[in-house]
Amino acid sequence: SNFSSFLNFSGRLSINQQQARYSSNFASRSEFVAGSNVTKFQDFMNERQFQARSSVLIQVGSEHSFPELFNYCLKFGEILVCKHYQTKNGHFILLQFSNESYANELLDSSSSNESSLSTTVRSPYLWFKTGKKPKIINSAQYGKGVLSSKFGNSVITEDLLNSEIRNAISIEDQMGIIVSKTQLSDLSIRLRYLAAHQIEKTFKEIIPSCKAYPFGSSVNGFGKMGCDLDMILKIDNKQADTSSRLVFQVKEHFNNERTQKQRQMEAIGNILQIFLPGVENVRRILQARVPIIKYHHDFLNLEVDLSMNDLSGLHMSELFYSFGNIDIRVRAIIFTIRRWAQIIGLTNPSPGRWITNFSLSSLVIHFLQQLDNPLLPPINNFKNYEDSREDKEIKQFELSKTQFLTNNNIKLEELLLQFFEYYSSFDFSNRAISMVDGNTVNKPDHSAMYIINPFDKTHNVSKNVSFEECERFKIEVRNAAWILETELENNVNLTKNGNWGLLNLFKTNNIVKPNVFYKPRMVDVSELFCKNVK
Ligand code: CTP
Ligand code: MG
Repeated sequence: SNFSSFLNFSGRLSINQQQARYSSNFASRSEFVAGSNVTKFQDFMNERQFQARSSVLIQVGSEHSFPELFNYCLKFGEILVCKHYQTKNGHFILLQFSNESYANELLDSSSSNESSLSTTVRSPYLWFKTGKKPKIINSAQYGKGVLSSKFGNSVITEDLLNSEIRNAISIEDQMGIIVSKTQLSDLSIRLRYLAAHQIEKTFKEIIPSCKAYPFGSSVNGFGKMGCDLDMILKIDNKQADTSSRLVFQVKEHFNNERTQKQRQMEAIGNILQIFLPGVENVRRILQARVPIIKYHHDFLNLEVDLSMNDLSGLHMSELFYSFGNIDIRVRAIIFTIRRWAQIIGLTNPSPGRWITNFSLSSLVIHFLQQLDNPLLPPINNFKNYEDSREDKEIKQFELSKTQFLTNNNIKLEELLLQFFEYYSSFDFSNRAISMVDGNTVNKPDHSAMYIINPFDKTHNVSKNVSFEECERFKIEVRNAAWILETELENNVNLTKNGNWGLLNLFKTNNIVKPNVFYKPRMVDVSELFCKNVK
């Protein structure tokens, strides 16, 4: 399907492919150009939402129940995809039918647990009761129903990832490996859309126009396995259809919009907590600038941040998604920078005064825009960027094919080095970054680091970054530039037995870490994390 370009950016390019990509005569650049060969965000969203509506998640005793389950479910309709994964809460099988009506028929036919005190709320999550001893089912009977992705929902161990990086053939190859081994899997993206589907389906019962969208790194192409799910629940529906003289009565308790929103979120949090299966550990963070509800989804093994109504985060995600599709090198450099920042402790999973992944990605994008031979266009080159209709969930940012054609054939490792050098000498005290124009402007206030929010130009994306953290960033990029330069000078083949290339960049020695209390939230992530932050 046309998804493969998004999911299977193989990372690991063959030597021939690499030569073809970066050789000076660079045969075909077209594959790097937005719009060619690449799934549009709109199509990506539609397809993923369709998958979620036609899917159910079923808890089973073990993956050995699969043939029996598959045979049982076949009576509802054609099954397209079956994926298995395991969490500390058990074994799960995700089934996608070829049509959402089949999934609905399955849900209609499902029963409630008689012995439970809880009210049954309709959700796409079920469990498979043991039945009569099944007839032996041979594999021929479930033909296409091959169970896949046994490990499609877990984070690669640090040791394994490092050994893959060690065995790479070049630094460029190392960067590709980081993408291919840590990016979100197909299964993980499916589960994220399923989480949104559950929320939307629940609240549609009283607010038929409501919509739930995953956004952030779950959808922008820069997400890695184990990252949190950001979700927007849109319940405000001000479609003024002036043709009708009959207008719905509404409830207006508070004349303050913020208070109204906080109360609504409180109620939503209660419903999540009391009624929705799988949703655990609901926390309401309603005093924050952007009030959110956090919860853990036990079946999906996901940490969720739910916010309400504001679609700007979704537009930002679409924008980043579009950037990632312009040139295959963009995701490689962003993944590498994020990993570097995580290992040396520049980023931190708990919110605070340190730089976020989102700001880091913005720094990379700006860097790629300001090159003499830019790899990325300024945002104002995108069609529909100025479209101010906030209610339009998908903006369809596009570049016309001829409008932006990069002829920069620079190698990834060189690009990485230039990134570190660029920020080593960046004038953070006086300049603000504008991705909109692809350049810098005078800093409007005294924040340590200033990145203009493209959808709210008065807002600074990196406002949270303290002077100390900005200073640390500057020291670390200088350090990294120095290490990488040395690595590039070394003959890779000579040093291959030990750590080389990015592994030397990712060293945590002698680095002062921010002193924060961090409690791992998910089993999968903790392993990754404990190694890095000790
Ligand atoms: N966002 C924004 N302005 C900010 C912070 C966040 O518009 N100052 C939006 C971006 O679209 C971002 C999303 O909110 O992608 C989610 O924020 P966050 O979870 O912090 O970043 P992610 O990109 O999801 O990265 P991570 O993998 O660290 O979660
Ligand atoms: Mg996020």
